[in-house]
Amino acid sequence: MQNPTSFLKKLRYFWKRSQFPVQGPIEISTVDKLIIFLICIVISIISSYKILLVPSLEISDIFSWGVTFAEVLFVCGFLILISRKENPNINSRQILLIVALLLIVQMIKNIFGSGLSPLSIIVPPALIISQGMGTITALAWVSIASLSWPDSLTNINSNLLLITLICACIVSVLGGKIRSRAQLLQLSIFVPIGALISQWILIGNEEYSLVDKQEILTSNSKIFSDSFLLAIIMLITILFIPIFESIFGLLTKARLLELADKEKPLIRRLSIEAPGTFEHTLLICGLAEEATRMIGGDIDLIKTGSLYHDVGKLHAPNWFIENQDGSKNPHDEIDDPLKSAEVLQAHVDEGLKFARKNRLPKPIANFIPEHQGTLKMGYFLNKAEEKKLNFNESDFRYKGPIPQSKETAILMLADGCEAALRAMDINASGNEALETISKIVNSRKVDGQLKDSNLSKGEIFLIKKSFLNVWKRIRHRRIQYPTTKNNTFS
Ligand SMILES: [Fe+2]
Ligand SMILES: [Fe+2]
Repeated sequence: MQNPTSFLKKLRYFWKRSQFPVQGPIEISTVDKLIIFLICIVISIISSYKILLVPSLEISDIFSWGVTFAEVLFVCGFLILISRKENPNINSRQILLIVALLLIVQMIKNIFGSGLSPLSIIVPPALIISQGMGTITALAWVSIASLSWPDSLTNINSNLLLITLICACIVSVLGGKIRSRAQLLQLSIFVPIGALISQWILIGNEEYSLVDKQEILTSNSKIFSDSFLLAIIMLITILFIPIFESIFGLLTKARLLELADKEKPLIRRLSIEAPGTFEHTLLICGLAEEATRMIGGDIDLIKTGSLYHDVGKLHAPNWFIENQDGSKNPHDEIDDPLKSAEVLQAHVDEGLKFARKNRLPKPIANFIPEHQGTLKMGYFLNKAEEKKLNFNESDFRYKGPIPQSKETAILMLADGCEAALRAMDINASGNEALETISKIVNSRKVDGQLKDSNLSKGEIFLIKKSFLNVWKRIRHRRIQYPTTKNNTFS
């Protein structure tokens, strides 16, 4: 029989594994917390105060107001919790955006009552939230916005509310997946058309004659004008999404793809000033993309993250082996392992500076320090030992942090394997390549670099397999690069 303690330990392990991502959310300052809390209080007040506006106030009214107030405050808190769970990198500005949108929607409901279709109030914000914060956060937001009405729900057609909920859910699900602005435009046309047809079927067409042109154009033709208004507001929202991206630092799929454009000035600079690093980056993109696809990670995120992971090498391209033409190596000239280690660390520090200057979103900038983690700079550490220098081991380790997500961990593994696979003999067998990959991956694992990434054993196996597949694919068209002793510079 299984020992209860080990059973509990196993249970705890599986519970922890299921809590993806394992990364703890970013700390939010007390001032921001206070502002967010105050907005939630205001939302709760404007969602519940109408209960108190009765001619003769009774205890039961006050009690029902208290319950509604607490209910709205609780769901606001729950919404924030869900958004932080789905996006560990979410910052206070983005949480403010979520609660501010809820506040605006509740205010509009108060001002217009049932005069304005819930479709136009709830669907467009759902598009912004799903694009910037993901589907689950958007669905949570939609359920709160659809269920909490300051006025009695009897004023609103229940079928219309159902159509609104379905449209908002469709927008939330598709909005989290959409990869281009063109698809967004399609969504803003097809959702209103879908809403129009659904209203026509569910709410009834006997009230409005769509054959009568006069009626279509007047505000009496509410079904038509509701959907038309929804289409207009959605189109305006799409126009404003890039502004939301830059003000609130949202990372939409479309923004990720734009950043992955190789004509972006920083990537263009990398290809001209550090062609070797650029080539290394492209190879890593291939390895990392395949591995991420295999484990079901975020492919767009890793593709863009890989492109920018070594931009810091632009500060001194010729100090990195892949950019040297073989004639001279500045590291040999200075002959100081400690200084060389500083130059290697600088490619991370300078990379973060480039990221700030070029306003790269945080999840992309995270790839810069996390792809190196706290790895040992083995080559220079050995040199320092040979020279019998006085040093600490930490002088020859990157400052970290270690990979905090599956994607940054995959990039670290791809970064380590790329140089080794590139240097392999053209006639090497698949088993030899797998052995090399396993050796590098295991060394990272033993060094504790993967412990925060939440990669399971099965996923690590799949990553190794996918690296092997990519290597097999590129082997036949591979140019054999000159192998040097110090090919561990990256
Ligand atoms: Fe690097
Ligand atoms: Fe690299």
